[in-house]
Amino acid sequence: MSAKVTKIGVLTSGGDSPGMNAAIRAVVRTSIYRGLDVFGIMRGYSGMIEDDIYQMNSRSVANIIQRGGTILKTARSKDFYNEDGRKKAYANLVKRGIDGLVVIGGDGSFTGAYKLSKEFGIPCIGLPGTIDKDLYGTDFTIGFDTAANTAVQAIDKIRDTAESHDRLFVVEVMGRHAGYIALHSGIATGAENILMPEVNTTLDDMVASLSEQEKRKKLVNLVIVAEGYTPDPSQPHLKGAAETTRLMEERLKGLEIRVTILGHIQRGGPPSCMDRFIASRMGFHAVECLIEGRHNVMVGILHNNMHYTPLEIAIREKQKISEDWMNIVKILAS
Ligand code: F6P
Repeated sequence: MSAKVTKIGVLTSGGDSPGMNAAIRAVVRTSIYRGLDVFGIMRGYSGMIEDDIYQMNSRSVANIIQRGGTILKTARSKDFYNEDGRKKAYANLVKRGIDGLVVIGGDGSFTGAYKLSKEFGIPCIGLPGTIDKDLYGTDFTIGFDTAANTAVQAIDKIRDTAESHDRLFVVEVMGRHAGYIALHSGIATGAENILMPEVNTTLDDMVASLSEQEKRKKLVNLVIVAEGYTPDPSQPHLKGAAETTRLMEERLKGLEIRVTILGHIQRGGPPSCMDRFIASRMGFHAVECLIEGRHNVMVGILHNNMHYTPLEIAIREKQKISEDWMNIVKILAS
């Protein structure tokens, strides 16, 4: 039986995502309700190493549920990769008696949490906070819904001008190595083609699809490209919309393509209702896990039920793009 947790530290790490504040709020308020002390750790693992840690109360998280970004700030700490950095960080937790951690972030952040739990025995809970939705063991990640909706709003606007000029547009969305924002926003905007790193769509496929659409006098063409998509597998360093467009223009001489890279607007803005809701549920259950002794897991939601995935599995495995979704893309865009 593991020792009772009495003081919880909470941090956000890696790329921020809309809804992280709602998760922090849920962790803080549930901890206080359950009689635990709760500490905010600033700038992820960097603040843990630099001892930038403060005690939070219910008021510390007032009026933040609707705000994008993270009040605890975030960072990708290089020093935390070293054992020395982690020793220093752990000593700062011990100094305050922090005996449980909630880490809100993606797989890189969970790797740090897993190492801390293994090396020092401190129980850690991961909350999936990333717009990329690339984590195994959860249907949704905190921030994905808002980011996908931001992309949809932008792509709808691009369609208006694309349609007026009968022009081909290539729009790049974020996602790092994953294509979920591309897939969801592409289906939701009726994009004619969606290019993702997980699906091997070659330039030949693209050229064939465009020629076929031209034959059918389908003039408007929106191609959504995930930033991690590689148009030419023999040159894996070439990625995203700019390279895809360049290679397409080389192949289809005379074709004029406009490119839009949506970039970091996808990471900001007020979180959607869905992101606030799942962040609140997950934050609440993170604290319950620490209290119940269900340690070193990522708290996710699968089929609308809470689902707990051991951190080492959450780090190793990836969500898969289903063939069914790809079929939907093909049939509905025809
Ligand atoms: O992981 C979230 C994410 O926004 C990715 O989609 C993107 O590739 C990356 O972070 C961008 O990171 P940075 O803000 O450091 O440029």
